[in-house]
Order: sequence, then structure tokens, then C-alpha cells
Amino acid sequence: MRGRSIASATPAASDRSLTSNRRGPALCLAALTSAMLAGAALAQTRSTKPASSAAPPAAAANPATGANPYAQRFASLCAACHGANGRSEMPGTPALAGQHSFYAITQLFLFREGRRANEAMSAVARTMKDDDLRGFADYIGSLPPVPPPPPAAPPDTARMKRGQELAREHKCLFCHGADLSGGQQVPRIGGQREDYLRMTLQEFKSGKRPGYTMAMGEALSTIPPADLDTLAYFVARFPPPAGR
Ligand code: HEC
Ligand code: HEC
Repeated sequence: MRGRSIASATPAASDRSLTSNRRGPALCLAALTSAMLAGAALAQTRSTKPASSAAPPAAAANPATGANPYAQRFASLCAACHGANGRSEMPGTPALAGQHSFYAITQLFLFREGRRANEAMSAVARTMKDDDLRGFADYIGSLPPVPPPPPAAPPDTARMKRGQELAREHKCLFCHGADLSGGQQVPRIGGQREDYLRMTLQEFKSGKRPGYTMAMGEALSTIPPADLDTLAYFVARFPPPAGR
């Protein structure tokens, strides 16, 4: 499998990476197969075209008005924490804008089933039906990426360089893509909130966040905690502003 094949995979290739990597967790997700395949098809649309030209998800849109009920539900149920445009301003809360629907539906499923734990999100996901997982994930997949606010200070060049080296050495760029935009079940991470990145990397390493594949646990197993901070620093500021 070549470098970008995981991040920008075709649906067939993404199935392969799920099953060949992790048989067990993939089986636990079997209940979601049809929703995920549909999610994969949508993610494929997203990853090959700009978000704005992606076809609206037929099931979620009201043909009479064109309104997506999940856009309204997102505004009333999710925006307070994740931001109206999907760029969160709340500590510890990930930006969802630019995230892939296939990744989003999997994470919502994990929260709902208690396999990824966070008090706030578990409470939100607990009552979701499969259609809701799908509707919210498709809506998230339609939100164009929003860059982080301009940094107060220019990035520390030495730290950025070290972060880039670590990202290459530990294959972050291999799986998440050279531009860290992910694809399908691999999340976009470039420009994500630094506090969230730091927390979630530590949780993957400690096993507190199991993931639906072992990919992250394995990727981080040999990395010392201080390097996780450097990776979070680099990823949050990626891509660095031009000319620096
Ligand atoms: C009270 C605040 C809060 C609300 C409301 C909320 N979220 Fe979250 N959400 C979080 C936090 C915090 C996390 C990160 C949890 C963690 O990893 O510990 C999260 C994580 C997520 C993730 C995983 C993102 C990733 O990058 O892994 C998705 C998807 C998500 N939320 C979707 C939603 C949707 C859809 C709604 C509305 C139906 C919603 N959230 C409402 C706080 C909230
Ligand atoms: C073998 C492929 C692979 C490698 C290598 C890899 N990742 Fe991941 N990463 C994934 C997958 C797949 C997920 C989705 C996690 C899940 O639920 O299983 C993920 C999730 C993440 C997340 C969570 C994003 C979110 O929104 O919650 C972060 C952050 C992340 N990776 C950063 C990194 C960094 C930094 C490296 C390098 C040290 C790295 N990854 C290496 C495949 C990979």
C-alpha cells in the first residue's frame, strides 16, 4: 500500500485497511456497515471535490425546501460547544469543520456505544438513532475546513522543524496525508486545536482512547510524552503561515 492510499483511499482500499488492520473492532462495527459504506461513498465525494460542490446527502435533505434538518439540529445541539461553523472555541473540544463524514460517523458510534468516553459527548450521542449518526456525520462532512485563528506569536521555527521530523519519522504524514487533511476513516488533523490534540494523543498512548483501529496506539507506542507535545504544537500550526 502506498503512502496516500490509506488517507485518500477508494472505498475498496479503505475496507481493506479496516479489515486487514483490525479484525476485532471492525467486527464490532458490522452493525453500521451500510451506514458506513454510504459514509465512505460520501467521504469519497468530499475528498475528490471541494466541500462546497459535494452533493447534499439525499436522505437528510428535504426535497421540498432543500433544508437539511441536521443543519438545524447541529445549530441547536452541537454549535454551543463545536462552534456554529464547526470551529470550536471551547477548550478540549475539537473542531469538526473539514472532518470526514466516515470518520465522524465512526466516532459518534463509538461514543454512543460507550467505546470512546467523554461525559459531554457520551450524553449527546447516547440517544442518537442510526439515522442521527448518519445525518450529523453527513452534515459535518459538508462543513468546509476553517483555519485556526491567527496565532498571537509566530511559530517557533525550531519546534516546527522538530515536529515535522517526528511526523515523518512516525508516519503521521503517511496515514494522515502530506497536508494532514486525512480522508475517509482517517481524520483531518492539520489546524486542529492544540489542547485537544495534546489531550487526545496522550489518551491514545495511555489506552484511555482505544480508537476503532489500533493504528494510533501503535503509532504512538514508542514516542515519549514530550515529543507528543511537540507533535501537537506542529500539527495545530500546520500548515505554517507562508514565508515563515
Ligand atoms: C457540551 C459540549 C458538547 C456538545 C453539546 C457536543 N459536543 Fe461533540 N465533543 C465535545 C468534546 C469535549 C469532544 C471531545 C471528547 C473527547 O475526546 O474527550 C467532542 C467530540 C466530538 C466528535 C469527535 C471529533 C473528533 O475529532 O474525534 C464528534 C464527531 C462530535 N463531538 C460531534 C458532535 C455532534 C454531532 C454534536 C451535536 C449533536 C455534539 N458533538 C455536541 C463536546 C460537545
Ligand atoms: C497507520 C495509520 C496512522 C498513523 C501512522 C498515524 N495515524 Fe493518527 N489516526 C489514524 C486513524 C485511523 C485515526 C482514527 C482513530 C480511531 O478512531 O481509530 C487517527 C486519529 C488521530 C488523531 C485524532 C484526531 C481527532 O480528531 O480526534 C490524531 C490527533 C492523530 N491521529 C494524530 C497522529 C499523529 C500525530 C501521528 C504520528 C505520530 C499519527 N496520527 C499517526 C491513523 C494513523
